[in-house]
Amino acid sequence: MTRFSAAVAGVTGYTGMELCRILAGHPNIDLTLATSRTEAGKQLQDVYPFLRGLPLGSLAITAPSAETIKDSCDLAFLAVPHGAAMDLAAALYDLGLKTVDLSADFRLHDKKTYDAWYALDHRHPELLAQAVYGLPELHGERIKSARLVANPGCYPTSAILGLAPALASGLVHTGDIVIDAKSGASGAGRKPAQATLFCEVSDTFRAYNLTKHRHTPEIEQEISLVAGEALTVSFNTHLLPINRGILSTIYTRLTRTISPERVHELYENFYKDSPFVRVLPPGCLPETRHVRATMFCDIGLCLDARTNRLLILSAIDNLCRGASGQAVACANLMLGLPLTTGLNFAPLMP
Ligand SMILES: NC(=O)c1ccc[n+]([C@@H]2O[C@H](COP(=O)([O-])OP(=O)(O)OC[C@H]3O[C@@H](n4cnc5c(N)ncnc54)[C@H](OP(=O)(O)O)[C@@H]3O)[C@@H](O)[C@H]2O)c1
Repeated sequence: MTRFSAAVAGVTGYTGMELCRILAGHPNIDLTLATSRTEAGKQLQDVYPFLRGLPLGSLAITAPSAETIKDSCDLAFLAVPHGAAMDLAAALYDLGLKTVDLSADFRLHDKKTYDAWYALDHRHPELLAQAVYGLPELHGERIKSARLVANPGCYPTSAILGLAPALASGLVHTGDIVIDAKSGASGAGRKPAQATLFCEVSDTFRAYNLTKHRHTPEIEQEISLVAGEALTVSFNTHLLPINRGILSTIYTRLTRTISPERVHELYENFYKDSPFVRVLPPGCLPETRHVRATMFCDIGLCLDARTNRLLILSAIDNLCRGASGQAVACANLMLGLPLTTGLNFAPLMP
């Protein structure tokens, strides 16, 4: 069996943790290098007791260095914040190493848009055109030959997968799309912050970053490609009192009369070769717990004849499908493995 070795930079964050969980059971990819600035010198099992007794548990954490990563693996996952990922990604690109960047640093094709939304001056704009947006359902062929993959954001994964079939078929108006999205608290990362303390998140429900969430231009970029015209969407986010999971409810306006069965058929047909997308039968709506810790994107469709709207509901797990699992799916394609290798998880219930 062909085996590949991989590095995870930023192993102590939530997406690094999820990469450890997934790679611990991957049949073809071994995690051989894990980096952190603050936990270097420890073993993975010191930081993650869930790895005790597994081969991965005794791996020593090292400080991040592009040369060390290049010398010890076939592919690197960058699970570090945006702004910090770009220099490491550029160094690895120059060294010729295949890289999947989980941050937002290479998702947007346009430097000005990146600089404006992320309040930074992108230091490697020449790589924006080289990076492939890592959504396998839309860019699978290009991911296979990519050297640098920009792994999609969690919210954009749910929104783009939900909207793509309707936009590709001209079923909905392009000028009237509202994405009402909700995420569990792990979406904010593991670094301590007042807004994500237990008492601030549990037993309440609130909106945040209305009209200015940084995932907006990423969603607009990708759905514009699908629609074949420049789109603007209203994208607004909420914080759920749960650990993981995203549910996006997308409000669209129909361009024609259509039956629920026909909409379902249209979506099923669009995703007929996409093992990770489950289009639910008419009348069934998705839930975050039905996709928890999996690669599934569950899509529910609801026609509102009275208001002439199609409501699209899209549920994913932000850490698996919306980050680390999707990064492994891209790595599978980049390494010549089948897309689903090591990723056939059933949901964690209840
Ligand atoms: N959480 C999600 O649901 C999610 C979903 C999709 C994408 N993402 C993206 O994935 C990336 C990681 O997210 P996360 O939630 O795992 O974040 P996190 O929990 O805050 O972890 C960040 C990791 O990066 C390391 N790090 C922080 N600053 C660094 C720097 N300047 N240079 C090198 N390493 C640094 C940290 O370790 P040390 O401080 O020990 O070095 C830590 O291991 C982010 O870009 C995020 O936007 C997250």
